[in-house]
Amino acid sequence: MAKTALVTGASGGIGLELTRILARNGYDIVAVARGAERLEVLKGELESLYGAGVTVIASDLSADGAARDVCDILAEKGIDVDILVNNAGFGDYGPFAECDWDKQDRMIRLNVLALSHLTRLLLPGMLSRGGGRILNTASVASFEPGPLMSVYYATKAYVLSFSEALAEELKGTGVTVTALCPGPTDTGFARTANADGANVFKKSTSSDARTVAYCGYRSMMRGKAVAVCGVSFKIVLFFVKILPRSLVRRAVMSIQKRSA
Ligand SMILES: NC(=O)c1ccc[n+]([C@@H]2O[C@H](COP(=O)([O-])OP(=O)(O)OC[C@H]3O[C@@H](n4cnc5c(N)ncnc54)[C@H](OP(=O)(O)O)[C@@H]3O)[C@@H](O)[C@H]2O)c1
Repeated sequence: MAKTALVTGASGGIGLELTRILARNGYDIVAVARGAERLEVLKGELESLYGAGVTVIASDLSADGAARDVCDILAEKGIDVDILVNNAGFGDYGPFAECDWDKQDRMIRLNVLALSHLTRLLLPGMLSRGGGRILNTASVASFEPGPLMSVYYATKAYVLSFSEALAEELKGTGVTVTALCPGPTDTGFARTANADGANVFKKSTSSDARTVAYCGYRSMMRGKAVAVCGVSFKIVLFFVKILPRSLVRRAVMSIQKRSA
């Protein structure tokens, strides 16, 4: 019987490519996002190309109790999740004092709470079956404070810290946890974050979603705790780790200002 991977944010960008890779590698898919139509198109694609069994769950994961509702549907359908990909997330660009609070609230609920709650709900099943994999999409933003995207960077710092802690806690259980840390990637992210056209998200310097997804998939299958994709980001993060924090936050501020 095929194993099952649940992917949040499966309808676009990095999540869509991860879903395609998982289906191509023989996994049945539970595809979660808000947009039912795009998920149904994906279901058709994965069924016809790879013969994957696909369950679509249209859910706004930033809503109260959404993670529990998703798991109730899984229980009703008798689906065990072998791979959990917590990928859905978004950002917001601009000074914090002027931000739309509702958007920050939804961001924290999605990037932090839904990711943690889904993990809490699905991890015990993985442990009782003696194995499983969890891939959490963090970011290169996880490693430093992010002036002008302060809440987003903070949510991604949480994702990295949470994932690394769990990876250590779960050693020897058969369940692995990987934090995927992409740099700017050509997806719908910049538009949602009001950063469309920003220097850091230029098509010429952005990674493509498929390359990032492969990096995440390979790292997850190897059980790596942290996956930074691309040599240039590994070098940047080496300096982020050794330079004084005050210098790093000033550098990020200056990069973000130039993105305006
Ligand atoms: N692109 C980058 O530069 C970059 C860099 C580092 C990290 N990341 C991270 O990568 C992850 C994927 O983002 P992406 O770049 O692929 O962006 P994207 O193209 O905008 O995709 C986001 C996905 O999340 C889903 N989603 C958004 N809000 C949701 C909600 N409330 N409930 C359920 N699903 C929701 C979207 O589908 P619906 O709209 O249909 O719900 C879509 O499938 C995010 O966690 C992001 O923070 C991105």
